[in-house]
Amino acid sequence: MSRTTPHQIYLDYNASTPIDPQVASVMSEAIEKAFGNPSSAHWAGAPAHTTVETARRQVADLLGCSANEIVFTSGGSESNNLALKGLYYSQKNPGAHIITTQVEHPAIVEPCRFLERLGARISWLPVDRTGRINPNDLREAITDSTVLISIMHANNEVGTIQLIEECAGIAKEHGIPFHTDAAQSVGKVPTKVDQLGIDLLSIAGHKLYAPKGIGALYVRSGTELEPLIHGASHERGRRAGTESALLTAALGQACELASDLSGMKDISALRDRFWEGLQQAFGDHVVLNGHPEERLPNTLNVSFVGQIGAEILESMPEIAASTGSACHSGRVELSPVLEAMRVSPEVGAGAIRFSLGRGTTAEEIDIIIERLASHLAK
Ligand SMILES: Cc1ncc(COP(=O)(O)O)c(C=O)c1O
Repeated sequence: MSRTTPHQIYLDYNASTPIDPQVASVMSEAIEKAFGNPSSAHWAGAPAHTTVETARRQVADLLGCSANEIVFTSGGSESNNLALKGLYYSQKNPGAHIITTQVEHPAIVEPCRFLERLGARISWLPVDRTGRINPNDLREAITDSTVLISIMHANNEVGTIQLIEECAGIAKEHGIPFHTDAAQSVGKVPTKVDQLGIDLLSIAGHKLYAPKGIGALYVRSGTELEPLIHGASHERGRRAGTESALLTAALGQACELASDLSGMKDISALRDRFWEGLQQAFGDHVVLNGHPEERLPNTLNVSFVGQIGAEILESMPEIAASTGSACHSGRVELSPVLEAMRVSPEVGAGAIRFSLGRGTTAEEIDIIIERLASHLAK
């Protein structure tokens, strides 16, 4: 599945994944056989309809829900927007209250800021140094006007996994719908909606070895949600627009592959090998960002103390990874996630997120440890 040339190493699977060959193969089949409109009653519509509905079933199976609770979207951002705005609009109460966290992806932060401009009140729960919220803070933030709680399942930068079952349980005690942005956790850790106890869950195809431009929102049956795109009655009236058999087939196949989490053991072993190698090479000069145990099995966010993460990556252009800081006119700005975790500027500036995936090999990990060691020795 590797799209890299021999000297390139891809360690940015949290940013995006290559398309799995089995996903590509169902896409080729859909191009050939499912070109019709899934809503057409004739011979050309039927295979397209079957393709879309098979995919819906595959996504539902991964989440342990019923197929009619899956709404196809264009990706994680749209799923989050539909959950937040759709629920807010359905309440017809401009001053409604929403609770979220300080470590959400911009695809949650920005819709919340937009709703704030419409009159909503937003509570941003703080996190501890590992990136976790305290469920007691959630309990205390709930008011009579709280209409939605949205807490991400796993963080995209540091991989920290929130205590979702406990938070969802608190929401349920108060009868408040609970949404989780699971763009990073689906396919990496279990995400059965009933086990987690949630009402709305966002998926992004391109984090899951499907292409960009497809995602899904799980909506527990009975949850009121105003559509963002009005039109014909596609997606049971939740999102107008002719469904893409091609893209839904891709997401369905990706979800079927993602239901087997056994490969994550190897990925987390490589991630741990990476971390141990870095500790041996750098001792106290390397610091882990995120929860030491309760984090995504593929994610390693580390700070090289006294260094600038962006500069390290610039000096190694063959390595694809992400930084947790941005340089603006000579000043280093920490990501809001590291800031919320109260990572000091000296440590945060040296942060790099390495995220591993199905194509990562032990050889690549050993090469990158060696390159980092020789680079930083200079
Ligand atoms: C946690 C999280 N939520 C949402 C998104 C947005 O997903 P998409 O790029 O599919 O819109 C991302 C993508 O980086 C993400 O990591």
